[in-house]
Amino acid sequence: MNLILLGAPGAGKGTQAEVICKAKGIPAISTGNMLREAVKNGTPSGLAAKSYMDAGALVPDEVVIGILKDRIAQDDCKNGFILDGFPRTVPQAEALDRMGVTIDKVIEIYVPDETIAKRLSGRRVCEKCGNSYHVDYKPSKAEGVCDACGGKLVIRKDDEPATVLDRLRVYHEKTAPLKDFYFAQGKLQTVEGQEDVSETSKLTLAALEA
Ligand code: AP5
Repeated sequence: MNLILLGAPGAGKGTQAEVICKAKGIPAISTGNMLREAVKNGTPSGLAAKSYMDAGALVPDEVVIGILKDRIAQDDCKNGFILDGFPRTVPQAEALDRMGVTIDKVIEIYVPDETIAKRLSGRRVCEKCGNSYHVDYKPSKAEGVCDACGGKLVIRKDDEPATVLDRLRVYHEKTAPLKDFYFAQGKLQTVEGQEDVSETSKLTLAALEA
C-alpha cells in the first residue's frame, strides 16, 4: 500500500504517519525530516536546501525528487510506504508517476489556518532523534526531554510565527492544487483534523479502509 498524507504545515501529517506506520507496518517517509538531517550533516542536498527551509519556502523540486527517489528504492519500502510532505507540487506528483509509483490513497488532513498557528507555537522537537511533541496536546513525560532518547526538546526554526504564515501561503499556492490532481484520480479522502490526536487517528485509520 503506497499512501500520501497531504495537509497544511502543522496539520498533523507526521503524527498520523507514525500511527499508520505502526498499524500497517510500512515506513513513514518525511521529506522534511530527511532534509533536516541533510542540513545537520552538511551534505550537498542539505546545503542546497537550508536557506529555502529557513525562509519557509519550498526546496527546489529537483533536489527533493532526487532524495525521495533514493529513499523509496530501499528495501524496507518494497511492501509500501507512507509519504509525509511529498509531493508538494504538481511537478513532484508527476515525477512520482514517472518513477512508476502507483499511489493507492491520498489522505488530506484538513485543519483551518487559524488552528495551525496555535499548533505550531506549541510544537517541540527532539534535537537528537527528531521526535515531535506538543506542550498541550502531546506532552513529553519530563518537560523539555525526549521520551524516546532523552534528547533536548527545542522549537523548530521554521515554527517562528512569521515563517509559519509564509509556509501557509506557500501551501495554498503550490500544494493545495494537488487535492484536485488526486481527486480527479478518485484517490483523495479528507479527514477533519480534531483537537485530539487519538480522535484524528481513528478518523485517519477509518479513511484508509474506506
Ligand atoms: P516538513 O517538515 O514536511 O513540514 P510541514 O509540512 O510544514 O509539516 P510539519 O512537520 O510542520 O507538520 P505536520 O503536518 O507533520 O504536523 P505534526 O504532526 O508535526 O517540511 C519542512 C520544510 O522542508 C518545508 O517548509 C520545505 O522547505 C521543505 N520540504 C519538505 N518537503 C518538501 C518537498 N516535498 N518539496 C519541497 N520542499 C520540501 O503536528 C504539528 C504539531 O501539532 C505537533 O506538535 C503535534 O504534536 C500537534 N498535533 C498533531 N496532531 C494534533 C491534533 N490532532 N490535535 C492537537 N495537536 C496535534
